[in-house]
Amino acid sequence: MPGAGIPDEWPGERVLEGRTIHHLPPATGKLTDEQLERHGKGPASKEHRTVFHNPAMAGCRTRSVLLLDHMMQSGWLGPDDRPVRALDALCASGIRARRWANELPQNKMKRLEITATDLDGEALQWAIANSSDDDIHFREGDVRQIMLEAGWQWIDIDPYGSPVRFLDSALQSTGRRSVMEITATDTAALTGSSSTACLRRYGARIRTDDWAHDSGLRLLLATVAKTAATHDRNIEPLLSSWDSHHLRISIRVIRSIEGANTIQDKLGWRVVDPSPEELIASCAAGLHPNGDAYPQPQCLLPMDHPVDASDKRFSGPLWVGPLHDAQILDAMTEERALELCWVGKITKEEGLIENPRDSESIQAMNWKSRDLEYARRAIIRSVKGFQEEAELADVASLIITDSLPAYGNMPGPPSIRGFVDRLIERGYRAAVARWEKPAIRTDAPWPVIIEVAESSFD
Ligand SMILES: C[S@@+](CC[C@H](N)C(=O)[O-])C[C@H]1O[C@@H](n2cnc3c(N)ncnc32)[C@H](O)[C@@H]1O
Repeated sequence: MPGAGIPDEWPGERVLEGRTIHHLPPATGKLTDEQLERHGKGPASKEHRTVFHNPAMAGCRTRSVLLLDHMMQSGWLGPDDRPVRALDALCASGIRARRWANELPQNKMKRLEITATDLDGEALQWAIANSSDDDIHFREGDVRQIMLEAGWQWIDIDPYGSPVRFLDSALQSTGRRSVMEITATDTAALTGSSSTACLRRYGARIRTDDWAHDSGLRLLLATVAKTAATHDRNIEPLLSSWDSHHLRISIRVIRSIEGANTIQDKLGWRVVDPSPEELIASCAAGLHPNGDAYPQPQCLLPMDHPVDASDKRFSGPLWVGPLHDAQILDAMTEERALELCWVGKITKEEGLIENPRDSESIQAMNWKSRDLEYARRAIIRSVKGFQEEAELADVASLIITDSLPAYGNMPGPPSIRGFVDRLIERGYRAAVARWEKPAIRTDAPWPVIIEVAESSFD
């Protein structure tokens, strides 16, 4: 029995993440007010506890609950009466697996057969003590071996640093159709600021520029797609996100030799300051929705485009296909997130109140309405901006508005909301991008983008 026995420090510190009460070894550090507001209650990093727990990842765990809910609902993981074998491969204190087991609707929860694994016996001790009422099967050991024992339909990989060393076993152990969610915290390597690690680990060169995080997501997808192809599997991105310290991709994995054979069509390069010929080649390959008007800041190019290795304008090889699935972005609604993962509710008569189904948890935490409101805001933040991009899921456009004044006659970057609205009024698809800097996605031709940006100041 892994991690047998109750941990010495039990019950430790109790946190409520989503709708799941979870015990952790006591933290030694205190949160600032800002961290409390941003992350909810709990320490911000591993240094604070003997078992890893990062409350900054709560948002990605909330999205994981939503994605599992949606994929089961859609029928993609098999008919309603069939089990779904899910693996939380690097579970630490077990918080993610527990959130799946606690926060999905009853009918879906019943279908889940969850296994959670970790090398760390102490972490598993806490995970098991936490899960006395959950139906989760815990295993202690190297998950690279454990994975190979079953055909999983859902695998979550959330390592320290790079996920690369887990990909080979994970991609061999998926069922005919499965979903894999992969986190990477080695952002310096993926975004090119650590160029030797980038080359060694991912076999690529990434330019550190305004698009570096988009390139990092595309590099992670390319790495996973190439590994999948070696195991006769094909991938399709569902959701890709970049939050302060990590990149995360969620993908469909499909066993298909034919699909795996098309991998080269999804790989290519990013080039900044493209030449007129490069813009024409990008459009001809269907990789640039903004047309071939010259000059423009950047575009993607297909794999077979000749690339001079000494030309510093290039990043790659990268995934040049879509980063998301439109239906998944559309499913990331505030309403569904609050319904599944929030312990409060808002009624016309009483305003913000605790949800009766969660009364026990709220009382155990001694939460006041201020805490319910913090939790509501955290849940909303975890899905913010995804749905707006749904219409542009297949559009490889990322226009950083700070870069626009260099291309037209305008005193500064246009204000973003009005800019998007005017592009939509002109009949194009456009959305504010979920991005660190003010940015939009649109399929409008470049001359229209500049004209609309200039007219923002009329
Ligand atoms: C970043 S933590 C996981 C966090 C967790 N998913 C969460 O949401 O809180 C990474 C975990 O991977 C575990 N780990 C590292 N290498 C492993 C391996 N080869 N097999 C199983 N677990 C491993 C570590 O012990 C650690 O608990």
